[in-house]
Amino acid sequence: MVNFVKLISLIVAFFISIGLNIANAHNHFPITTVSKLMIERGKIAYENNCVSCHMINLSGAENWKGVDSDGHRKAPPLDGSGHTWHHDDKTLHAIIKYGLAKLVKNYEGKMIGFEDKLSDKEIDSVLAYMKSYWSKENYEYQLKLN
Ligand code: HEC
Repeated sequence: MVNFVKLISLIVAFFISIGLNIANAHNHFPITTVSKLMIERGKIAYENNCVSCHMINLSGAENWKGVDSDGHRKAPPLDGSGHTWHHDDKTLHAIIKYGLAKLVKNYEGKMIGFEDKLSDKEIDSVLAYMKSYWSKENYEYQLKLN
């Protein structure tokens, strides 16, 4: 009987630990630039989805601090010359996944979310790719925010 109870509690503990692992599946911040493969994957996802606004080399729209002809803000650089590196990974991931519409009330700008196009893993790869452009100082500063 005692052994039976022990066995049941072991099984329960096993399933709880699996559950926790699934719940924590996205708990791998901070994103680093250690994996070259991840950076390469991020580059592909970036070129397919982001380059039209944030431009090649992540340099952002020309005169990005100004506004478009339709009054919307332009795409900022993601290469570390803007302020992107002041946001932690969770925020950056959410901006890319959901766009600013879900984060900023009544948002009318052009940064829409990529939830339907990119998996969490791909978004993280794009973050690694972006970080590969940042200076050592910015990169290390941002790592500590996480
Ligand atoms: C249609 C144009 C457009 C596309 C495509 C686009 N963005 Fe943006 N993005 C913007 C604009 C505009 C902003 C500035 C938001 C604002 O102020 O309204 C922005 C802001 C951001 C920010 C916040 C930057 C900061 O410094 O705060 C991140 C991060 C970002 N974009 C990443 C991406 C990534 C990654 C992709 C591709 C998966 C992407 N964007 C695709 C237009 C775009």
